[in-house]
Amino acid sequence: MTGSASGASAGLTRVPGLLYGGDYNAEQWGEHVWDEDARLMRQAGVTMATVGVFAWARLQPASDSWDFGWLDRLLDLLHGHGVAVDLATATASPPAWLVRAHPEMLPVTADGVRLEFGSRQHYCPSSAVYRAAAVRLTRALAERYRDHPALALWHIHNEYGDHVTECFCADSAADFRRWLSERYHDVETLNHAWGTAFWSQRYAGFEEVEPPRAAPGPGNPTQLLDWRRFCSDALLACHRAEKAVLDEICPQVPATTNFMSMFKALDYWEWARHEDFVSDDAYPDPADPRAHVTAAMNYDLMRSLKDGRPWLLMEQAPSAVSWRTVNLPKRPGLQRLWSLQALARGADGIMYFQWRASAAGAEKFHSAMLPHRGTASRGWQETVRFGAELRRLAEVAGSRLRGQVAVVLDWDSWWALELDEHPSARMRWLDLLRPWYAALFERGVTIDFVRPGASLDGYRAVLAPNLYLLTEEGAHWLARYVHGGGTLVCGPFSGISDRDDHVHAGGPPGPLRPLLGVVVDEPWPIADGAWTTVRSPSGELRATLWSEWLETEGAETLARYVCGDLAGRPAVTRNVHGAGAAWYVGCHLGTDIAALLDLALGPTVTALPLPPGVEATRRRAGDGTDYLFLLNHGPDSVQLTLDAAGTDLLTGAAVAGRLTLGALDAAVVRTHPTEVLP
Ligand code: GLA
Repeated sequence: MTGSASGASAGLTRVPGLLYGGDYNAEQWGEHVWDEDARLMRQAGVTMATVGVFAWARLQPASDSWDFGWLDRLLDLLHGHGVAVDLATATASPPAWLVRAHPEMLPVTADGVRLEFGSRQHYCPSSAVYRAAAVRLTRALAERYRDHPALALWHIHNEYGDHVTECFCADSAADFRRWLSERYHDVETLNHAWGTAFWSQRYAGFEEVEPPRAAPGPGNPTQLLDWRRFCSDALLACHRAEKAVLDEICPQVPATTNFMSMFKALDYWEWARHEDFVSDDAYPDPADPRAHVTAAMNYDLMRSLKDGRPWLLMEQAPSAVSWRTVNLPKRPGLQRLWSLQALARGADGIMYFQWRASAAGAEKFHSAMLPHRGTASRGWQETVRFGAELRRLAEVAGSRLRGQVAVVLDWDSWWALELDEHPSARMRWLDLLRPWYAALFERGVTIDFVRPGASLDGYRAVLAPNLYLLTEEGAHWLARYVHGGGTLVCGPFSGISDRDDHVHAGGPPGPLRPLLGVVVDEPWPIADGAWTTVRSPSGELRATLWSEWLETEGAETLARYVCGDLAGRPAVTRNVHGAGAAWYVGCHLGTDIAALLDLALGPTVTALPLPPGVEATRRRAGDGTDYLFLLNHGPDSVQLTLDAAGTDLLTGAAVAGRLTLGALDAAVVRTHPTEVLP
């Protein structure tokens, strides 16, 4: 296995080692329970508890009444037990008194329905009332606890965009118009960008523009695309307002907000710039035998968002969640394996929702580190056992891993791809990405996600499963990489439109035509349930969802359609530029993309040969120490042959050459450069 890594960083917080703990919604319990909780946290090796996430109503029972006494006692108690605190700003669930005084702050759907109080996340992101109240609470907390010795991290809000990603009320409309006037300056520029000459949609002034509420037919695509951009920015403005207060009052303590993995509504590239470090909430489904592949993909994104810096798994379920239709528990060992997987992909801490299982409320059937059954339960035994294992892995903190291959992810393109009235509604970003990612995962290749314009230095290949929206600059960026000797593999329906979602002149792939050496005459989507066959040097491959009438303009044809309307026409091409090559895959090959990527990446991208179901990554510390993570997701025990010797930190056993891993078992082998076998 190969894979370079950059140097180690300082820890995420002042707490040494890997963080371990969970959401502690202590306000649910009488204070007599807290003593037991603090004692049990210590027993489990918990190092950090996230406190106060939904405690707004308790902290501020009325507009000018504050109750911090209980939180003072809680922080003192936790500190006394050696548990650091990730203190929430508590702004994700505004209290009833605020909502009743200002019902206009409740969010409104596209159909005009105002969502009621009684759940959580019930606020309009553009509401000045909400933002002012959230900032006021944040300021009060920051001023009171800035010097508290328990405080190690600020937890801003909670899962921005969970439940409510957009609001269509009058305040949002005004904020949207302000955002548009900053973007376009004058309404004629907006008219041009939105193509309002079509369907008589011309605006005479910004005051005539509204959010894309429910309308008789398809909406204006650029209006919808700008709406997506605006909604991400509106929530980000809420976040930035809180972050600014924390930076002003308490700059010595880092702050983060918990992301929701690969989440369409928020452009996490932009968001990550405002985080001191990235944290993520991940809920892979135990019922899905491929859940670990999607989880790996999400964790690679979390690591990539801040250029490879360690991140924090802020929430996961110890066993079952309560919000799926059927909530399967994690069978013994799965919680441990999936936690180690996050570490394997760059996390420096493992946290859960939540510490103690609720007796009441919407999430009382959600698993917890301390289940309803208490310390006799299987869950508790696993909580304690895993805490001890994390202590044995403490030295991994700060080490890094870097991918060999870059995968391009652009939220603008994702949003634009999934707008209505396209040749096929089946072209969804995650469906296009997943098989490409899975092919690399199965091959044991670690990837980084990159956004257009990022440095591509050192990557052995760049993959773009889809780049529907691509600017001229984006195309130049890819061309520079290929002309420098790199290999690019570009997926179908790419290079279609510019930043305003106007179709590039001359046909797809627009600005990529010279680089790829192809032009698309017409998209040829494949009907639901149908498929076509492609003959390639890797054998016959099956295409579903999408094909294209493709013509070459200098590229060589590597694969052709065998049957159907496109029989004999190019399906996969390669355009050589010196030492570099630009591949184009003009159809959706699903899992068959693996064979083609093998061909494109060839021997330049190497990996440890692994049995099916085994995942391997290597983290490297600044002093050159490597941590080889080996995870067996399969149901049987496997034998591995390693190119290194060292010590399995989980068991303390020496490892040389061969290693047996049981079902759902893992090893974290520390190797020093001198211990690499010939
Ligand atoms: C999210 C929320 C938590 C909790 C969990 C349950 O991650 O942040 O408050 O609701 O889901 O899985």
